[in-house]
This record gives sequence, C-alpha cells and structure tokens, in this order.
Amino acid sequence: MCGIVGYVGHRRALNVLINGLQRLEYRGYDSAGFSLIENGKIVSYKKQGKVSDLVVLLNGLEFKSNIGIAHTRWATHGEPNDINAHPHLDNSGNISIVHNGIIENYATLKLWLKEKGYFFKSETDTEVLSVLIGYFYEKFKDLEKAVRIALSKVKGTFGVAVISSYEPNKIIAARRGSPIIVGIGEDEYIVASDASAIIQYTRQVTYLSDNELVIITKDGYQTKTIDNLPTSSDIQVLEFDLSKIEKGGFEHFMLKEIFEQPQTIQDACRGRLLVDEGNARLGGLLPVIDKLQNVDRILITACGTSWHAALIGEYLIENLCGIPVEVEYASEFRYRNPIIRQNDIVIAISQSGETADTLAAVQEAKRKKATVLGIVNVVGSSIARETDAGVYIHAGPEIGVASTKAFTSQLVILTLISLLLGRMRSLSQEEGILIANEIKALPEKVNKILQNAEQLRQIAKEFSYSRNFLYLGRGYNFPVALEGALKLKEISYIHAEGYPSAEMKHGPIALIDENMPVVFIAPKDPIYNKVLSNIEEVRSRRGRVISIATEGDENMKKYAEKVIYIPETLPMLTPILSVIPLQLLAYYIAVELGCNVDQPRNLAKSVTVE
Ligand code: AGP
Ligand code: GLU
Repeated sequence: MCGIVGYVGHRRALNVLINGLQRLEYRGYDSAGFSLIENGKIVSYKKQGKVSDLVVLLNGLEFKSNIGIAHTRWATHGEPNDINAHPHLDNSGNISIVHNGIIENYATLKLWLKEKGYFFKSETDTEVLSVLIGYFYEKFKDLEKAVRIALSKVKGTFGVAVISSYEPNKIIAARRGSPIIVGIGEDEYIVASDASAIIQYTRQVTYLSDNELVIITKDGYQTKTIDNLPTSSDIQVLEFDLSKIEKGGFEHFMLKEIFEQPQTIQDACRGRLLVDEGNARLGGLLPVIDKLQNVDRILITACGTSWHAALIGEYLIENLCGIPVEVEYASEFRYRNPIIRQNDIVIAISQSGETADTLAAVQEAKRKKATVLGIVNVVGSSIARETDAGVYIHAGPEIGVASTKAFTSQLVILTLISLLLGRMRSLSQEEGILIANEIKALPEKVNKILQNAEQLRQIAKEFSYSRNFLYLGRGYNFPVALEGALKLKEISYIHAEGYPSAEMKHGPIALIDENMPVVFIAPKDPIYNKVLSNIEEVRSRRGRVISIATEGDENMKKYAEKVIYIPETLPMLTPILSVIPLQLLAYYIAVELGCNVDQPRNLAKSVTVE
C-alpha cells in the first residue's frame, strides 16, 4: 500500500530517500517520513500530508548521512497524523522501522509488551513491531537476530526496513505479503517497494520472496529466510526507463496514461498476434498448453478495474471458445471455499501484481491444486511469481491511481487468450483472421477517439455540477458501464453507478430526473435497438442522456443530448474503444472540480492489505 525506500551507499541518503518517496507517493500519500543515521544517531522527521509537506518541514536542513529509510503511508491503524506517520522507533530510540502491511496480532503483542513496561506513542500496528524488535535487541544484542525473531512472532503482512544506531552501517529488510525489491548499484543499494524508486540509480535488482530477509551494507548484501536459512537471489534487469514514470509534459499521470493507450495496446499485441493464422502466440502460456487444451471451466478472479476486465473476459471466452467461465471478486474467492475441479483453470488479473486479495485468491487456488495463470502488468511482482504461468500486459508503469491503460491492455490480452483457446477448439481460421485484423486496427481507432478529447472536456464542464451519474451498457459494454462509473467515483467523488441498461427499469429508474446525467454505451451492435428503447425510457423522465455511439450513427443525435462517437469495430472489441471517452470524461470532470486526479483521497495504487 505504502511506499518504502531505504538507501545505503556513497550518496547523501536524504536526497535518494526524498526522490524515492516522490516516485512512490502514488502508492500511499497520507503522511511521509524518514530516519537517517547521522553522526551515529537516529534522526527522524515525519509529517502528515504529502511528501512536499515533509520537504517544507525540513526547511533546507542538510544531512550528510549515507544511510536511511523512508516511508509514504496509507493508514490502516490509526488516523493519518504526525505521530502515526512512519518511521516508528523502539523505546530506546535507537532502532527505526518503516512498514507496509498489517500486523494482525498487534493488540496481543502490545499488551504483552506493556506488561513488561514498554510504552507506545502511536496507534499504529507498526510501532508494536519496532518496540518488539527493541525488546529482542536488548536480549540478543544482535540486530539481525532481533529482527528475525520479532518477525517470527508476527501474524499478518509486512514489507519492512530497519536501521539502528547500534549497528549503523546496515539496513535489514524483509517481506511477507508486501513487496520488497533491492536495487544493486556500485557500492550502493536501494531497497524499495517498487522499481520506480530504484530505476534512476540502477537497473539491477533482486526481488525478495515471502519470508525472506536481506541484510545490506554498502559493501554487499546477503539474503536468508526469516528462519535463518540461506537463500540464493537472482539478479534481474529492469526494462523500463525513467521517462515511463515521468509526466512527459502532461498535466497528470492519468492523462498521460490515457494518451499512451494506442501504444500500450500495440505493445500488448507485439509478437503475439498472428494475423495470417488468425491466432495468438503467448509464450508465457506454453508451460500449461496441455492444461489449456483440456480445460473444462475457467474461473477469473480480480479486484476493481481488473475485475471489470475479467467480466469482459467471461463474455469473450464463452463466446469464442465455448468454455464456461465464472468471475469472482478475489476478496470473496479467498474466503468462500470455491469449488475447483481437476480440469479447471484459475486466471488472476492484476495491474500491480501485489493486490493482497488477489494474491490470497491465487494462493487459495494453488492450495486446491488448480492451474493458476496471471494477467499482470508489473514484471516480477508477487502474483506474477506465484502463478504457474501467465501473460504480462506490458503496459509500462501505471502511476495514476485510477487505472486506465492497464484496463485496455488487460482486455487485449483476454482477447488474445480467447483467440488462442478458440482456435484450439471450434473457432475457424477465417473468423480468427477477422478478429486478429480488427485487433490490429485498434491503436489507430483509439488515436482517433483521443483526438476528440476536447469534446469530452466541454461535456465535463457542463455536467460537473451533478452529484450523481448513471452509466448503462449491455453485453460487452455492461462492464464498461461499471468501469466508467468507478473512474468517476474514484477521482471526482461524484456518486456514480453502473448497470446493465435493461436493469434500469428494475429500480435505478426511480433516480432519474432532469438533474441526472445518464451515460449510455450504445454502439451499433446486435442489441443496439434495445438500448435505444432504454434511452427513450430515460428521456421520457427528463434524464440527460450522453451517448457513446458508433461513428456514422446520425440517428443517435435524435435520442441523446450529447453524442460521442467511436470508430466501428467488432462488438467484442468495443469495450477497448468505448471506455476511452469514459476515462476522459471522468478525468476532465475531476479537473473541473479541482480534485487531485493522480492521488484521489483515501485510495492507494496497490492495495496490499486486506
Ligand atoms: C482502479 O482504478 C482502482 N484504483 C482499483 O480498483 C484497482 O483496479 C484494484 O485495486 C485492483 O488493482 P490491481 O489491478 O493492481 O490488482
Ligand atoms: N499498518 C501500518 C499503518 O497503519 C502501515 C500502513 C501502510 O502500509 O502504509 O501505519
């Protein structure tokens, strides 16, 4: 959830830490802080608010220290304030930790420590861990051992980094459930929650596994399990460059990412779309190709926007391959004891690859001996590593908290998987070629929609007054209605609901009056006429209709107050086009209302807690 960054090496640590926090801020942003070891002592600063507020607090202060840890928080235990902000110190003030995740047994541990005379300043679960490490340090006088023993007493999840003036040259970091990456430079190391804090300094990284710990000094690092067994770490090379995590002239990351979609859609297809064969080649699925051949049922699990992609995946796979598909929220899947049979395949979809609920669903499916596939964006992430096989969407870093480009890339990958599975079954080559050609044409069509962004900006101006929105679509575009509504809620705080168009008359129609904008996704497809009837129903109750329609559909102008055109494509591919105006609409409304688009309130980019 939060961002962790730690540095040890030859540079001034504070610069690397602040820089890292700024890059990680999208992960969590209610408070920020750091600790350094300056002249043999721990020096800490922390502040509620943004990283920029922390920088103001420093007021130009300079520190020479070459070692430190820092954190940007997304509060779970205790409101965001200066005291609850990380780092948290032990009672001696000589050990400092930053933590991502939740210590589930913190209340019991806290009581136990209080009985022994220890005190607590904050309401956080994290401080309990720091005091516990302090307790074991007093016992063993060995920082690594104290950290290991403390972590073995902890239930829950952690990504954690620890420094201490007792052993002032090392950072100890460990993980269970929350990501920790070590960037390996020349005589310097950066430990962080994700690669964006590292890439500026080095491309060489190693990913910690669950229950693994690393001890880092400027001269090297050593990994082992929390139980003190040696582990080997392989070094990987980060493939994206710095420009991918910078705004590149756009006002917000979200807008940049919306505009990247012609490219990211193409990247998702690169080397994978076999137009002449009407098929797809997905190298990541080769290890499970036999299983795919014999699959009887597919379960797709995900959260949020990725769950919307899953719903479209269900329509795609059932239509093209005739394989029954079920889609389930990962948070439900993990606790519901789902039935998984021998020839079932579970697919987990996740942009970040770190979503705790989705990761737990993957683990539950594996426990039940299912073959588990991942559709993931972040290379090397936990879900990517825990699944048996999978396909990276290769959308590049997505920094805006509201997911945009990852969604369209997930849809491309789901289409490619459907094509592959379909061609293994009854989908003809001719049909395959038709679909492949249409996929190939998508980037240009997305480009065309983006050129029309100004129209969306105008519509946003006119409609931003409204406190409620309804989004309606049918078939492939029902999940797009859900996604459009989610985008608007997330970044503009306007209440929005998505429904299948025909479902409106079963309840939501009661909401419609002259103040209710209703966004219809109504491309020319086999159910177009049915959607027109639904539009009529809204109009006759004076609702304000905004329609996403297929280019050339002049008729729609008679029905809708505003018509946004998208190029024609196959019905199964329309979501990749119809969602673009909805992303732009949400974006411009949020800007119009002065909201913080990239870091909306209460949210964080990757939800690594339950
Ligand atoms: C999307 O705009 C959201 N911020 C959120 O719903 C997100 O899609 C969800 O948390 C799942 O994330 P993931 O794809 O990284 O697993
Ligand atoms: N549970 C910790 C807290 O509330 C860590 C939260 C985080 O991951 O940012 O402070």
